[in-house]
Amino acid sequence: MNELHHRNLREQFAQRIQTYETSARWMLAPELIAAHKAAAGPAPAQANRAVDLCCGTGIVGRNLLSLGWNVTGLDLTPEMATVAAEHFPVRTGSVEKMPFAEGEFDLATLRQSLMLVDAEATVREVNRILVPDGRFILVHSVPFGAADDETYSAVQHTRHINMKTYFRANELETLLRDTGFKITAHQFLRVRESVDHWLNSAPELSPVLRAKTRALIAQAPASYREARRVQDVRGELFEDWNWSLITAQKL
Ligand SMILES: C[S@@+](CC[C@H](N)C(=O)[O-])C[C@H]1O[C@@H](n2cnc3c(N)ncnc32)[C@H](O)[C@@H]1O
Repeated sequence: MNELHHRNLREQFAQRIQTYETSARWMLAPELIAAHKAAAGPAPAQANRAVDLCCGTGIVGRNLLSLGWNVTGLDLTPEMATVAAEHFPVRTGSVEKMPFAEGEFDLATLRQSLMLVDAEATVREVNRILVPDGRFILVHSVPFGAADDETYSAVQHTRHINMKTYFRANELETLLRDTGFKITAHQFLRVRESVDHWLNSAPELSPVLRAKTRALIAQAPASYREARRVQDVRGELFEDWNWSLITAQKL
């Protein structure tokens, strides 16, 4: 079952490799990267080992390099790992069972991937590979609140063909607390996206699922459209995404 899920994920992300970094604005959004870098801070000289989990093409990891972090990556998809490996060493494997020793890292980070994996197993693994007091930065898109929750959940379930879990911000916090972390900071960032651009950059989505996802947003209830500032600009649909950036510390 897990092997099939992993194979589907590898297929999905291998297909996306050519256009991955420009397939949505959030990936390279300077405001999101700046907040991520500020949360990580400069690497302490004696505690500078960081791991970028589900590193994809290595966007997060290469930004940590500039802060003095000694970065290692981990990703399931060999095509993704190959691109990230141009910047730092990368292992190919699953975050649900990491090829790392206990206490191997001072900092771990995981951006926009928790919905694809066995979340509890993954966060327990993050805890295991961190040193005592080690830090974990978790970045994930979440609904703004009750106003957009129901429709956002439907959108996510339609557009993520390999999604395992839909997360709200408080559920991310609960998961971290239940797996041996304390939350030290939680901030939110609004990032504007072209819905049409990211839908057209997702080759894994059938035309039917693409049209269904777009219709869910275009015809969303007023509360959703207001919370996410949905706008049709000459036929191109835009909305805001809500990014949760949590910094947690291993207890
Ligand atoms: C949406 S991308 C995010 C990439 C990167 N974190 C970023 O912010 O640009 C999800 C990534 O998770 C990887 N992935 C999915 N399941 C995984 C697993 N079980 N273990 C490791 N990587 C996984 C995929 O191959 C893909 O590169």
